[in-house]
Amino acid sequence: MTRSREIRSCDGSLFVASASMGRSAGIRDGAWKVLCADWLAVAAGFARGSIDFLYVDPPFNTGKTQASPARAGARGRADDAAYADAWATMGDYIAWLRERLDATLPAMKRSGVVAVHCDFRACHHIRLMLDELQGEANFVNHLIWSYGLGGSSPRRFARKHDDILVYAIDAARYHFEPPMVPATSQRLRGELKKATDVLDIPSLNNMAAERTGYPTQKPLELLTLLVGAFAPAGGTVLDPCCGSGSTIEAAVRLGRDAIGVDQNPRAVEIATARLAARGAVGACGAHGSVGGRRGRSGPRVRPA
Ligand SMILES: C[S@@+](CC[C@H](N)C(=O)[O-])C[C@H]1O[C@@H](n2cnc3c(N)ncnc32)[C@H](O)[C@@H]1O
Repeated sequence: MTRSREIRSCDGSLFVASASMGRSAGIRDGAWKVLCADWLAVAAGFARGSIDFLYVDPPFNTGKTQASPARAGARGRADDAAYADAWATMGDYIAWLRERLDATLPAMKRSGVVAVHCDFRACHHIRLMLDELQGEANFVNHLIWSYGLGGSSPRRFARKHDDILVYAIDAARYHFEPPMVPATSQRLRGELKKATDVLDIPSLNNMAAERTGYPTQKPLELLTLLVGAFAPAGGTVLDPCCGSGSTIEAAVRLGRDAIGVDQNPRAVEIATARLAARGAVGACGAHGSVGGRRGRSGPRVRPA
Protein backbone atom coordinates (compact mmCIF):
# COMPACT_ATOMS: atom_id res chain seq x y z
CA MET A 1 0.00 0.00 0.00
CA THR A 2 1.46 3.38 -0.93
CA ARG A 3 0.37 6.61 0.70
CA SER A 4 1.55 10.15 0.62
CA ARG A 5 1.13 13.10 2.90
CA GLU A 6 2.29 16.68 3.14
CA ILE A 7 4.54 17.41 6.05
CA ARG A 8 5.51 20.91 7.04
CA SER A 9 8.84 21.54 8.74
CA CYS A 10 9.31 24.23 11.37
CA ASP A 11 10.39 26.91 8.93
CA GLY A 12 7.25 26.24 6.92
CA SER A 13 8.96 24.39 4.07
CA LEU A 14 6.93 21.54 2.69
CA PHE A 15 7.90 17.92 2.37
CA VAL A 16 5.75 15.28 0.77
CA ALA A 17 6.25 11.91 2.36
CA SER A 18 4.93 8.68 0.99
CA ALA A 19 5.10 5.17 2.30
CA SER A 20 4.99 1.70 0.92
CA MET A 21 3.72 -0.22 3.86
CA GLY A 22 5.08 -3.69 4.53
CA ARG A 23 8.16 -3.30 2.38
CA SER A 24 11.00 -4.13 4.75
CA ALA A 25 11.14 -7.89 5.15
CA GLY A 26 7.65 -8.19 6.52
CA ILE A 27 8.04 -5.38 9.06
CA ARG A 28 5.68 -2.48 8.50
CA ASP A 29 7.35 0.91 8.89
CA GLY A 30 6.51 2.66 12.14
CA ALA A 31 4.85 6.04 12.15
CA TRP A 32 6.87 9.13 13.01
CA LYS A 33 6.80 12.82 13.61
CA VAL A 34 9.52 15.39 14.13
CA LEU A 35 8.82 18.52 16.13
CA CYS A 36 10.80 21.74 16.08
CA ALA A 37 10.91 22.82 19.71
CA ASP A 38 12.93 23.01 22.86
CA TRP A 39 12.56 19.55 24.39
CA LEU A 40 11.44 21.16 27.67
CA ALA A 41 8.60 23.03 25.97
CA VAL A 42 7.03 19.81 24.65
CA ALA A 43 7.95 17.36 27.43
CA ALA A 44 4.79 17.89 29.45
CA GLY A 45 2.69 17.37 26.31
CA PHE A 46 3.56 13.69 25.88
CA ALA A 47 0.81 11.44 27.19
CA ARG A 48 1.52 9.73 30.52
CA GLY A 49 2.89 6.24 30.14
CA SER A 50 3.14 6.41 26.35
CA ILE A 51 6.88 6.04 25.66
CA ASP A 52 8.78 2.73 25.66
CA PHE A 53 12.28 3.96 24.93
CA LEU A 54 13.71 7.43 25.54
CA TYR A 55 17.07 7.86 23.82
CA VAL A 56 18.78 11.18 24.47
CA ASP A 57 21.87 12.25 22.51
CA PRO A 58 22.23 15.82 23.81
CA PRO A 59 25.05 18.23 23.08
CA PHE A 60 28.06 16.94 25.06
CA ASN A 61 29.12 20.32 26.48
CA THR A 62 32.31 20.39 24.41
CA GLY A 63 32.52 24.17 24.71
CA LYS A 64 32.32 24.52 20.91
CA THR A 65 29.79 25.05 18.16
CA GLN A 66 29.26 21.80 16.26
CA ALA A 67 29.08 22.39 12.51
CA SER A 68 28.77 20.40 9.29
CA PRO A 69 32.09 19.15 7.87
CA ALA A 70 33.56 21.78 5.54
CA ARG A 71 33.34 19.72 2.34
CA ALA A 72 29.96 18.12 3.01
CA GLY A 73 28.30 20.27 0.32
CA ALA A 74 30.55 18.85 -2.39
CA ARG A 75 29.07 15.43 -1.67
CA GLY A 76 25.51 16.73 -1.87
CA ARG A 77 25.03 16.83 1.89
CA ALA A 78 24.09 19.64 4.23
CA ASP A 79 27.03 21.97 4.79
CA ASP A 80 25.18 24.63 6.76
CA ALA A 81 24.01 22.81 9.88
CA ALA A 82 25.30 23.82 13.30
CA TYR A 83 24.31 23.79 16.94
CA ALA A 84 25.69 25.35 20.09
CA ASP A 85 27.40 22.94 22.47
CA ALA A 86 28.61 25.10 25.36
CA TRP A 87 27.38 25.87 28.85
CA ALA A 88 29.01 28.30 31.29
CA THR A 89 29.68 25.52 33.82
CA MET A 90 29.26 21.75 34.08
CA GLY A 91 26.69 22.44 36.80
CA ASP A 92 24.61 24.50 34.36
CA TYR A 93 24.80 21.72 31.78
CA ILE A 94 23.71 19.00 34.21
CA ALA A 95 20.88 21.20 35.49
CA TRP A 96 19.74 21.77 31.88
CA LEU A 97 19.69 18.04 31.19
CA ARG A 98 18.14 17.09 34.51
CA GLU A 99 15.25 19.51 34.13
CA ARG A 100 14.36 18.03 30.73
CA LEU A 101 14.70 14.41 31.78
CA ASP A 102 12.64 15.07 34.87
CA ALA A 103 9.87 16.65 32.80
CA THR A 104 9.83 13.67 30.41
CA LEU A 105 9.80 10.80 32.92
CA PRO A 106 6.00 10.90 33.48
CA ALA A 107 5.59 9.99 29.80
CA MET A 108 7.53 6.75 30.24
CA LYS A 109 5.81 3.38 30.52
CA ARG A 110 6.54 1.27 33.62
CA SER A 111 8.38 -1.12 31.29
CA GLY A 112 10.27 1.80 29.74
CA VAL A 113 13.98 2.43 29.37
CA VAL A 114 15.97 5.67 29.35
CA ALA A 115 19.36 5.91 27.63
CA VAL A 116 21.58 9.00 27.76
CA HIS A 117 24.43 9.23 25.27
CA CYS A 118 27.46 11.22 26.48
CA ASP A 119 31.24 11.11 26.62
CA PHE A 120 34.14 11.43 29.06
CA ARG A 121 33.39 15.09 29.73
CA ALA A 122 30.08 14.62 31.53
CA CYS A 123 29.51 10.87 31.86
CA HIS A 124 30.39 10.74 35.57
CA HIS A 125 28.17 13.74 36.35
CA ILE A 126 25.26 12.33 34.36
CA ARG A 127 25.61 8.93 36.03
CA LEU A 128 25.26 10.50 39.47
CA MET A 129 22.35 12.66 38.29
CA LEU A 130 20.56 9.60 36.86
CA ASP A 131 21.21 7.64 40.06
CA GLU A 132 19.34 10.39 41.88
CA LEU A 133 16.58 10.82 39.33
CA GLN A 134 15.96 7.16 38.51
CA GLY A 135 17.30 5.38 41.58
CA GLU A 136 20.56 3.41 41.62
CA ALA A 137 18.60 0.17 41.64
CA ASN A 138 17.25 0.98 38.19
CA PHE A 139 20.69 1.22 36.58
CA VAL A 140 20.85 -1.26 33.69
CA ASN A 141 24.04 -0.70 31.69
CA HIS A 142 26.93 1.59 31.05
CA LEU A 143 27.37 0.87 27.34
CA ILE A 144 30.59 1.71 25.60
CA TRP A 145 30.23 2.66 21.95
CA SER A 146 33.68 1.92 20.60
CA TYR A 147 33.95 3.65 17.23
CA GLY A 148 37.59 3.45 16.22
CA LEU A 149 37.92 6.27 13.72
CA GLY A 150 39.92 9.45 14.33
CA GLY A 151 43.34 10.61 15.47
CA SER A 152 45.65 9.61 18.28
CA SER A 153 47.50 11.50 21.00
CA PRO A 154 51.11 11.37 22.14
CA ARG A 155 49.95 12.36 25.66
CA ARG A 156 47.28 9.76 26.47
CA PHE A 157 45.43 6.69 25.19
CA ALA A 158 43.33 7.80 22.22
CA ARG A 159 39.75 8.59 23.21
CA LYS A 160 37.74 6.28 20.98
CA HIS A 161 34.47 5.68 22.71
CA ASP A 162 31.24 7.32 23.82
CA ASP A 163 29.21 6.31 26.87
CA ILE A 164 25.54 5.39 26.88
CA LEU A 165 23.99 5.23 30.35
CA VAL A 166 20.90 3.05 30.50
CA TYR A 167 18.30 3.09 33.30
CA ALA A 168 15.00 1.27 33.67
CA ILE A 169 11.91 3.02 34.92
CA ASP A 170 11.33 -0.15 36.95
CA ALA A 171 14.20 -2.67 37.08
CA ALA A 172 11.72 -5.50 37.62
CA ARG A 173 9.68 -4.74 34.52
CA TYR A 174 11.76 -3.12 31.80
CA HIS A 175 11.81 -4.45 28.26
CA PHE A 176 15.02 -6.01 26.96
CA GLU A 177 15.56 -8.17 23.91
CA PRO A 178 19.25 -9.12 23.85
CA PRO A 179 20.77 -8.11 20.50
CA MET A 180 22.70 -10.85 18.74
CA VAL A 181 26.02 -10.02 17.14
CA PRO A 182 28.58 -12.14 15.25
CA ALA A 183 30.77 -14.15 17.60
CA THR A 184 34.46 -13.33 17.38
CA SER A 185 36.01 -16.32 19.14
CA GLN A 186 37.53 -19.11 17.03
CA ARG A 187 35.24 -21.66 18.69
CA LEU A 188 32.01 -19.83 17.77
CA ARG A 189 33.12 -18.47 14.41
CA GLY A 190 30.15 -17.97 12.07
CA GLU A 191 27.64 -18.05 14.95
CA LEU A 192 25.79 -15.30 16.76
CA LYS A 193 26.17 -14.43 20.43
CA LYS A 194 24.49 -11.96 22.77
CA ALA A 195 26.07 -8.50 22.55
CA THR A 196 28.20 -7.36 25.49
CA ASP A 197 28.23 -3.83 26.90
CA VAL A 198 31.01 -2.86 24.49
CA LEU A 199 29.49 -2.07 21.12
CA ASP A 200 32.07 -2.17 18.34
CA ILE A 201 30.43 -0.10 15.63
CA PRO A 202 32.41 2.21 13.33
CA SER A 203 31.46 5.88 13.34
CA LEU A 204 30.24 7.23 10.00
CA ASN A 205 33.08 7.81 7.58
CA ASN A 206 32.97 10.44 4.86
CA MET A 207 31.79 8.00 2.23
CA ALA A 208 28.90 6.52 4.26
CA ALA A 209 25.69 6.68 2.23
CA GLU A 210 23.62 7.52 5.33
CA ARG A 211 25.65 10.65 6.08
CA THR A 212 23.46 13.75 5.98
CA GLY A 213 26.06 16.41 6.73
CA TYR A 214 24.52 17.08 10.16
CA PRO A 215 27.25 17.36 12.80
CA THR A 216 27.70 14.49 15.29
CA GLN A 217 25.30 12.22 13.40
CA LYS A 218 25.21 8.74 14.95
CA PRO A 219 25.21 5.56 12.84
CA LEU A 220 21.99 3.74 12.08
CA GLU A 221 23.68 0.50 13.12
CA LEU A 222 24.09 1.79 16.68
CA LEU A 223 20.53 3.08 16.95
CA THR A 224 19.11 -0.07 15.36
CA LEU A 225 20.81 -2.12 18.03
CA LEU A 226 19.57 0.08 20.88
CA VAL A 227 16.01 0.44 19.62
CA GLY A 228 15.78 -3.30 18.90
CA ALA A 229 16.98 -4.06 22.44
CA PHE A 230 14.91 -1.59 24.46
CA ALA A 231 11.72 -0.86 22.49
CA PRO A 232 9.22 -3.69 21.98
CA ALA A 233 7.75 -4.40 18.56
CA GLY A 234 5.09 -1.78 17.87
CA GLY A 235 6.32 0.37 20.77
CA THR A 236 7.11 4.08 20.79
CA VAL A 237 10.55 5.69 20.81
CA LEU A 238 11.24 9.31 21.77
CA ASP A 239 14.43 11.16 20.81
CA PRO A 240 14.15 14.74 22.12
CA CYS A 241 17.50 15.90 20.65
CA CYS A 242 17.06 14.05 17.37
CA GLY A 243 19.45 15.98 15.11
CA SER A 244 19.49 14.33 11.69
CA GLY A 245 16.91 11.74 12.78
CA SER A 246 19.07 8.62 13.11
CA THR A 247 16.98 7.25 15.97
CA ILE A 248 13.75 8.01 14.17
CA GLU A 249 14.87 6.22 11.02
CA ALA A 250 16.13 3.19 12.98
CA ALA A 251 12.85 2.97 14.90
CA VAL A 252 10.66 3.35 11.83
CA ARG A 253 12.61 0.67 9.98
CA LEU A 254 12.10 -1.67 12.93
CA GLY A 255 8.36 -1.03 12.98
CA ARG A 256 8.43 1.13 16.11
CA ASP A 257 6.64 4.48 16.18
CA ALA A 258 8.98 7.39 16.76
CA ILE A 259 8.86 11.00 17.89
CA GLY A 260 11.80 13.29 17.25
CA VAL A 261 12.28 16.75 18.73
CA ASP A 262 14.99 19.27 17.96
CA GLN A 263 15.14 22.99 18.58
CA ASN A 264 17.31 23.50 15.51
CA PRO A 265 15.11 24.08 12.42
CA ARG A 266 17.88 22.76 10.15
CA ALA A 267 17.95 19.47 12.08
CA VAL A 268 14.19 19.12 11.67
CA GLU A 269 14.46 19.78 7.92
CA ILE A 270 17.21 17.21 7.51
CA ALA A 271 15.48 14.56 9.63
CA THR A 272 12.13 15.13 7.93
CA ALA A 273 13.64 14.99 4.43
CA ARG A 274 15.55 11.85 5.39
CA LEU A 275 12.39 10.08 6.53
CA ALA A 276 10.35 11.38 3.64
CA ALA A 277 13.02 10.03 1.25
CA ARG A 278 12.66 6.65 2.85
CA GLY A 279 9.00 6.81 2.01
CA ALA A 280 7.71 6.53 5.54
CA VAL A 281 4.51 8.33 6.45
CA GLY A 282 4.58 10.65 9.44
CA ALA A 283 2.06 9.70 12.09
CA CYS A 284 1.51 13.35 12.84
CA GLY A 285 -0.74 12.81 15.84
CA ALA A 286 -0.99 15.26 18.69
CA HIS A 287 1.88 14.96 21.18
CA GLY A 288 1.86 11.68 22.93
CA SER A 289 -0.88 10.10 20.90
CA VAL A 290 1.37 8.19 18.57
CA GLY A 291 2.01 5.11 20.66
CA GLY A 292 0.55 1.82 19.58
CA ARG A 293 -1.01 2.79 16.24
CA ARG A 294 0.85 3.15 13.02
CA GLY A 295 0.34 4.94 9.75
CA ARG A 296 -2.96 6.46 10.73
CA SER A 297 -4.05 9.84 9.52
CA GLY A 298 -4.10 12.85 11.80
CA PRO A 299 -3.03 16.45 12.11
CA ARG A 300 0.10 17.40 10.22
CA VAL A 301 3.45 17.90 11.88
CA ARG A 302 3.55 21.49 13.02
CA PRO A 303 6.07 23.67 14.69
CA ALA A 304 5.52 23.34 18.42
C1 LIG B 1 24.40 15.34 19.51
S1 LIG B 1 23.22 16.14 18.51
C2 LIG B 1 22.11 14.83 18.06
C3 LIG B 1 22.62 14.04 16.88
C4 LIG B 1 21.66 12.95 16.47
N1 LIG B 1 21.66 11.86 17.43
C5 LIG B 1 21.99 12.42 15.09
O1 LIG B 1 22.27 11.21 14.92
O2 LIG B 1 21.98 13.21 14.14
C6 LIG B 1 22.32 17.06 19.71
C7 LIG B 1 21.10 17.78 19.19
O3 LIG B 1 20.42 18.37 20.29
C8 LIG B 1 19.76 19.52 19.80
N2 LIG B 1 19.36 20.33 20.97
C9 LIG B 1 20.13 21.12 21.78
N3 LIG B 1 19.38 21.69 22.73
C10 LIG B 1 18.11 21.26 22.55
C11 LIG B 1 16.88 21.49 23.22
N4 LIG B 1 16.82 22.28 24.30
N5 LIG B 1 15.76 20.91 22.76
C12 LIG B 1 15.80 20.11 21.65
N6 LIG B 1 16.94 19.86 20.96
C13 LIG B 1 18.08 20.41 21.41
C14 LIG B 1 20.78 20.17 18.89
O4 LIG B 1 20.17 21.06 17.99
C15 LIG B 1 21.38 18.91 18.21
O5 LIG B 1 20.73 18.66 17.01
